[in-house]
Amino acid sequence: MKFFIDTANLAHIKEAQDLGILDGVTTNPSLMAKEGIKGTDNILQHYKTICEIVPNGDISAEVLSTDFASMVEEGKKLASLHKNIVVKIPMIKDGIKAIKWFTDNGIKTNCTLVFSAGQAILAAKAGATYVSPFIGRIDDSGWDGTQLIGQIASIYATQGFETEILAASIRNANHIIQCAELGADVCTCPLDAILALLKHPLTDIGLAKFLEDAKKM
Ligand code: E4P
Repeated sequence: MKFFIDTANLAHIKEAQDLGILDGVTTNPSLMAKEGIKGTDNILQHYKTICEIVPNGDISAEVLSTDFASMVEEGKKLASLHKNIVVKIPMIKDGIKAIKWFTDNGIKTNCTLVFSAGQAILAAKAGATYVSPFIGRIDDSGWDGTQLIGQIASIYATQGFETEILAASIRNANHIIQCAELGADVCTCPLDAILALLKHPLTDIGLAKFLEDAKKM
């Protein structure tokens, strides 16, 4: 399973990249706004900076328009920033048309805001490179988000779809573990969820004892 970081925070992206386990970055308009990135030029520059920090990973950049023609124009501009840009497109009717257009023109896409198996089937039919089911938001609404990952993985395997399942809206380390078990191809996580994978109290206790005993060696 690939690890993407889900943030527009450059310090967090650098920290994950320095760990040596990072395969890409996802952002969205809310994450960009959280970092105070405003105006088209600054937004495009921010994506370029992220591509420089993670030179070998796929970087999702989201379109802000919702009609086919504007999404294509906007996506072409985003894709021209760097070879690793993946155009992120919402799961709406014009979004499916745009994904098909980008697929036919050799540009990678990430179909975002996916909450059902039916939406995931459509994204795959259109040829999306990635499909992003938002598991944390499903949990927030009282349902089981990770169950959707297993359902999509089963459908894609049965049907031979090549679209990669990019588990998104990850809230904690357990989500990451469950996504790995259920067959997600990618997990996009905030930095704290990635770092939480490191933690186990017995590791801390064991290391303290080893270091103490090492003084007697
Ligand atoms: C995915 O690409 C989205 O940016 C993200 O995972 C949304 O997560 P949230 O539900 O924490 O906003």
